[in-house]
Formats: sequence, C-alpha cells, structure tokens
Amino acid sequence: KRKIILDCDPGHDDAIAILLAAGNPNVELVGITTVAGNAEVEKTTKNALQVCEIAGIANVPVFKGSGQPMIRKRETAPSIHGDSGMDGPVLPEPKKTAEHGHAVDFIIQKLMESDGDITLVPVGPLTNIAMAMRREPAILSKIQEIVLMGGGTFGNWTPAAEFNIFVDAEAAKVVFDSGVPITVMGLDLTHQALATREVCSRIAQIENRAGKFVSELLEFFRETYLDVFGFEHPPVHDVCSVAYCIDPTVVETKRVRVDVETKGEFTYGMTAVDLLGVTGREPNVNFAVKLDHTKFWDMVIEALNNLSK
Ligand code: BDR
Ligand code: CA
Repeated sequence: KRKIILDCDPGHDDAIAILLAAGNPNVELVGITTVAGNAEVEKTTKNALQVCEIAGIANVPVFKGSGQPMIRKRETAPSIHGDSGMDGPVLPEPKKTAEHGHAVDFIIQKLMESDGDITLVPVGPLTNIAMAMRREPAILSKIQEIVLMGGGTFGNWTPAAEFNIFVDAEAAKVVFDSGVPITVMGLDLTHQALATREVCSRIAQIENRAGKFVSELLEFFRETYLDVFGFEHPPVHDVCSVAYCIDPTVVETKRVRVDVETKGEFTYGMTAVDLLGVTGREPNVNFAVKLDHTKFWDMVIEALNNLSK
C-alpha cells in the first residue's frame, strides 16, 4: 500500500483526485494539505473538507497551507473553477474542520518520522513543498517520490506556462532542482485524461453521493473548458498523479531534463522539457507522455463505487 500526502487546491480535478485516493485500496491517504491556487487557501481548504464529507472520508487529516506564493503576487483561476474554486455542485457547510497547525509543518513531521516510504502528490502550485524543503532540508532524503501535476511542453495559463507552475515558478524551481525522484504529469499527459460523454454517462450511473458530486463537477468543468479553451471534453489533470501512484502502468514516462523558467518576459513559469536530450544534462524527472485512457477511467469509476453511499 503506497502512502501518499495529497497537496492540493480543490479545484474540480483536485476533488476527483481526492476521491480516487480515498476509494482505491492500494494507496493510503496519510493527509490532505491545501494551498492557494485555483482559489484562495481558505476556499481550497473548505472545498477539501467538503469533498471529505461528501465521500465519507473521516480519518484523513486536512491541513491548511500556504496562502501566498513564495515571491510573486497570488493569482487564482475563477475562469476555470468559478469563484469558490469548486463551483457547480451545491454542498452543505462542512462539519469536519481543518487540523490545527500548518500544512508545511505537517508535511515535515510526517516525512521525518517516516521510513522514507511517503510519496508527495502535489497537484496545485508547489509552494508548500518548496517551503517544506527550505524549512527542513533533511526531508529531501525522506521523500520516496514526488508525483506532481504541473508543466508540460506547452502552456494553458500563458502560451508557455501551465497554471500550477506559473502561479509559483520559484517554488517549482526549488522542487525540480531538489534532486528528489520526480514524476511529472504535465499537460501533454493530462490532456489525454478527458472526461468524454461516454465516461460521464458511466459516472452518472454510480449510486452514491460521490458519483453524483463528480457528475456535477464535470458538468461545470465541461462548460468552462469549452468556453475558455474550446475543448469538447474537460481534462481531469490532477487525477493522473494519483492514478500513477496506484498503478504506474497507467502512464508511459520518459527520463528527461526539465528546468523551470523564472526570468523570461514571455516564458515565466515555463517548464523547459528536454525531450530530445539536446542539453546533454542529466535527466531529473520521469516525464509522462502517454495515458492508458481505458485503464485510467476504469480505475476512477471503481474507486468512486467503493466510496460510501
Ligand atoms: C492545473 O491547474 C488547475 O486549474 C488544475 O486543478 C490543475 O491542477 C491544470 O493546469
Ligand atoms: Ca489542482
């Protein structure tokens, strides 16, 4: 059973990532940490708590994390996720509350008391992970792997930059340069994780609250992805990271060098992905290139079915 800490900014796809982690028996969700990204951190934390409530996730602690990027001004994504960060489904106020303490401290504590068997799964801006690395460098040798969603060979927030990296590229640079084993689910991969009509109708048949919730999330997400990007089907980016932790064969990866741009006028937040090995530099990441769409959605639907009524 793989132990993971899911660091997220729910977020429609973040929410589904939480549900997959909770509903699949091959991963143990050690904790959920939140960060500012799709919305302010107060909102993403509330959203995470609501997801837990809907799905009956009772024993997983939720910690609120960084509300601001390390250096830049905060930027959020209401055009994609609505003002709440998770618009669409109408949910009651969560009964569960966040734990006391900061997400960065929780991440450090869990890693330091571990046997090096915890995987970090960041699916929002990398602020918490970078802050933890700076605050306690001894965690570096304790992290089994980082399986993050971010970057790619093209952008979705600027022509060059993907949202999670763009929001805090300095943090991303700290993480990519850390020397820790990293697997990257970039846009090249996540744009293959499309919630097609066929997938949505399978989800609509799931008879529990989580199934209904995901249907409502995808309905909203489909609309914004059509309006903003002209996509026929919405891609559930963050879910890919959790799916990879459950079964790495769902994704094909390539060893490459990736560097994060923090200075460019038009390229701030870009991940420079050396697919052809032209830099001659030592690869630092496994870069995801191909998704097994059938295996992926079978896994997600099975997990949703496993969640409580
Ligand atoms: C990433 O940005 C967010 O909007 C999504 O939740 C995902 O993590 C995609 O670029
Ligand atoms: Ca996210």
